[in-house]
Amino acid sequence: MKVLGINGSPRRDGNTNILLDSVLKGARNNGSEVEKIVLNDIEFSPCQECENMPNDRFCIIEDDMQTVYKKIEEADAIILASPIFFGSLSAQTKMMIDRFQCIWRSKNILRKQVFEKRKIGVFISVEGSNRKDFFDNARSIVKNFFVTINADYKEELFCSGIDEKKAILKQPKLLKTAFNLGVKL
Ligand SMILES: Cc1cc2nc3c(=O)[nH]c(=O)nc-3n(C[C@H](O)[C@H](O)[C@H](O)COP(=O)(O)O)c2cc1C
Repeated sequence: MKVLGINGSPRRDGNTNILLDSVLKGARNNGSEVEKIVLNDIEFSPCQECENMPNDRFCIIEDDMQTVYKKIEEADAIILASPIFFGSLSAQTKMMIDRFQCIWRSKNILRKQVFEKRKIGVFISVEGSNRKDFFDNARSIVKNFFVTINADYKEELFCSGIDEKKAILKQPKLLKTAFNLGVKL
């Protein structure tokens, strides 16, 4: 099984990254092939709402999103990880999701399924506060994204009250839950 982790946090070695690594470690321990993309480390443009959309497949902008499309296409499971920023996903995560408008159009307007392989979708997130509604906001966007890439929203892990860098290391129970989630995949 190919498991792809996508980290939408700009903070290198931050809480989202640590949580995501725990899930990926669990998946690897159980024999999965694991890969991670850090959105802040790749170069890609926000969606340009261009009028030259392809009639199928991927966006015409030639940047690192071309690799992201291919890796998502090949994956059996996607673990999308984002911190909560201003009550929603990070800008990096939302910017990547917007670049799937080409796939949304293929699926919903042209009635062509671009990502034929059905996938498992997992969403994990951390926030500094204890506001459940922030996760609700983020979840509804991620659900929409998962439907677009033909992924079933199977699991989620939300961690509240985690603010300073690496604070999540003080929560071994959460990291164990994340590891077990990876094993379960
Ligand atoms: C720009 C920005 C906006 C944030 N907005 C929120 C927010 O709306 N609600 C919240 O609970 N925490 C918010 N936080 C706190 C982060 O969610 C928290 O620090 C989290 O642990 C960051 O994860 P990271 O280390 O993976 O980047 C914000 C942090 C930043 C930098």
